[in-house]
Amino acid sequence: MTLPPGPAELPAIQTARWLLRPISFMESCRRRFGEAFSVRFLGFTTPMVMLSDPAAIRTLYTERRHGLPPGRGVALLPVVGPRSVLLLEGGEHLARRKLMLPPFHGERMRAYEATVRDVVERDVAGWPRGEPFAVHPRMQAVTLEVIVRAVFGVSDPVRGQRLRELLRSLLDATASFGLQFGFMLARRIGAPDPLEKLRRQRAEIDTLLLAEIGERRAEGGGEDILSLLLEARFEDGEPMADQEICDQLVTLLVAGHETTATALAWTLELLVHHPAALERLGDGSDAAYLKAVIAESLRLRPVVPLAGRRLSSDLEVDGRTLPAGTDVTPAIWLAHTRADVYAEPFAFRPERWLDGAAPPGYAWVPFGGGVRRCLGAAFAEMEMRVVLSEVLARRTPRAADGAAERVARRNVTFSPAGGTRITAPARL
Ligand code: HEM
Repeated sequence: MTLPPGPAELPAIQTARWLLRPISFMESCRRRFGEAFSVRFLGFTTPMVMLSDPAAIRTLYTERRHGLPPGRGVALLPVVGPRSVLLLEGGEHLARRKLMLPPFHGERMRAYEATVRDVVERDVAGWPRGEPFAVHPRMQAVTLEVIVRAVFGVSDPVRGQRLRELLRSLLDATASFGLQFGFMLARRIGAPDPLEKLRRQRAEIDTLLLAEIGERRAEGGGEDILSLLLEARFEDGEPMADQEICDQLVTLLVAGHETTATALAWTLELLVHHPAALERLGDGSDAAYLKAVIAESLRLRPVVPLAGRRLSSDLEVDGRTLPAGTDVTPAIWLAHTRADVYAEPFAFRPERWLDGAAPPGYAWVPFGGGVRRCLGAAFAEMEMRVVLSEVLARRTPRAADGAAERVARRNVTFSPAGGTRITAPARL
């Protein structure tokens, strides 16, 4: 049992190529090694196998017992907490997923549309009308506010304000390169632990959330996700403990905020550089075309590039057996740009999704798959739809710069390097 071939460079070089030019790194591996290849990243003792064949991705994602590859837990644990659905494995993970899925069910999403509409309407009212500005930070503000209102449902204005400040600084800290670097340095030379500040912030967030939970338990009701989680029961009839609910709420924030903001920034970026699609989308009221635009944007600019597993049993891939214990991930960008699945794979063509064309199974995996597929996928798609239609009903976005944006790796996401600079005069 041998792993697929891969670049021979030192792990430090491969890591640098991944960090600095991830797309060209993956494309060059595809050209040299084909369907599956093994890369070596600094800090990992074993190689990571990357796949792009939809059949192989299907096999990987349909086996429930595969675990998580290392890495997720290190920096995330102090932020999301030990009971987070993002970090638990096996039976404990499945029990949380079962409990948390109903509030995120597609049909429930209508309940949150009005909140999203209100948040985006207020934000757009403050956008410049003539001068260029970066729209990615605006989308971050919108998706944070949506989570505070639709997921946390915080009603007390003073508590809400403090929570916003704390969440903002927790998010900034998790995204900062300084933190990741400082964390590694602290472990090496015994410098003060930079995660200590993070832990203090998280403790203050918990105090506010626990107060909210206490009041909500006393009063009952509420349509937000927090209220639904309070009512939800495990199979043995027990509710989730309050501290665990805090972990899941912060998890939803961390998993759902930057991802959705970045997907929205990319969609606007693709639209302003494809005037025919923007023209056809008009004021955003054509629901079928809007849905197609979102599907195509998530295909061509997948926000999360890797969503891997550690094999619990051998996996047959491309005529080869990968042994149990191997870390394997779909290279989502490569899966989404396969010429044998997508005609003109690098062209932005929302039309390919019209006339009921469903995403081809496992060649469209922006939300991962199987038992760890994104819990918030229906929420994210609803939010993108409402935000885009509200923006387009009020403004006519135009590219501020000639060239399309480069893909930059930002924490675990692929995001537009320049923040998507646009102008947005009022729609006439
Ligand atoms: C466009 C926006 C989003 C993208 C591209 C995205 C993508 C992903 C991906 C790739 C995964 C890993 C899946 C896997 O390992 O198979 C994931 C997991 C997850 N996402 Fe999202 N996500 C988005 C928005 C959201 C939102 C809005 C929420 C919640 C409000 C959310 C909550 C979660 C959670 C809780 C998990 C962990 C699931 C588990 O481990 O069982 N995501 N997401």
